[in-house]
Amino acid sequence: MTRTVYYTATSLDGFIATPDHSLDWLLSRENDPAGLMGYDGFLAGTGAVAMGATTYRWVRDNDPGWVPERPTWVFTHRELELIPGADLRPTADDVAAVHAAMVAAAGDRDVWIVGGGDLAGQFADRGLLDEVVVSIAPVTLGAGAPLLPRRVELAVREAGRNGEFVVVRYAVVRPA
Ligand SMILES: NC(=O)c1ccc[n+]([C@@H]2O[C@H](COP(=O)([O-])OP(=O)(O)OC[C@H]3O[C@@H](n4cnc5c(N)ncnc54)[C@H](OP(=O)(O)O)[C@@H]3O)[C@@H](O)[C@H]2O)c1
Repeated sequence: MTRTVYYTATSLDGFIATPDHSLDWLLSRENDPAGLMGYDGFLAGTGAVAMGATTYRWVRDNDPGWVPERPTWVFTHRELELIPGADLRPTADDVAAVHAAMVAAAGDRDVWIVGGGDLAGQFADRGLLDEVVVSIAPVTLGAGAPLLPRRVELAVREAGRNGEFVVVRYAVVRPA
């Protein structure tokens, strides 16, 4: 069954980017993509992707080849300059409607919410987020783009270490 997963890396104090959208604190660190909760295994189980406009612009400007070979919905209210060859689907539709389309596109694989944190929160608000999987870098940033600026109750399902990161898989606890 398809799960909707917010899979991301965070600083210890809960930021996924610096205030000027740098990921230097993250990309410089050692981890094993084939290891525990690593990127390779996660991506293999992913059938559809969503991200917000700021995240998309970072990818386009810094690492356009990174866009996964998956249908990718980009939430935005503006015109986007698209990366050639990528299956990008700009949208300002309701998150629930987009989620239904993503689940259909994912088949028996999972839906990946790349971020940012508020977008993941919008899915959580609608009861559509199943898991949060974080790789916690050994650094504090003090400020930046927030991991998940909501109250969301979570239950630890799995935890361990991958390289320099502590990795944790949480289930989202929905109100009874
Ligand atoms: N550490 C990691 O692994 C990781 C993962 C992901 C992202 N990041 C970084 O974290 C930062 C995230 O940036 P961010 O906090 O600004 O979040 P973001 O989700 O990337 O972008 C926010 C923008 O997305 C658009 N948006 C969000 N919800 C929408 C909706 N329902 N409908 C239409 N448009 C919507 C809006 O843009 P407009 O209205 O202006 O179009 C909004 O300003 C970036 O620097 C990114 O590179 C890091």
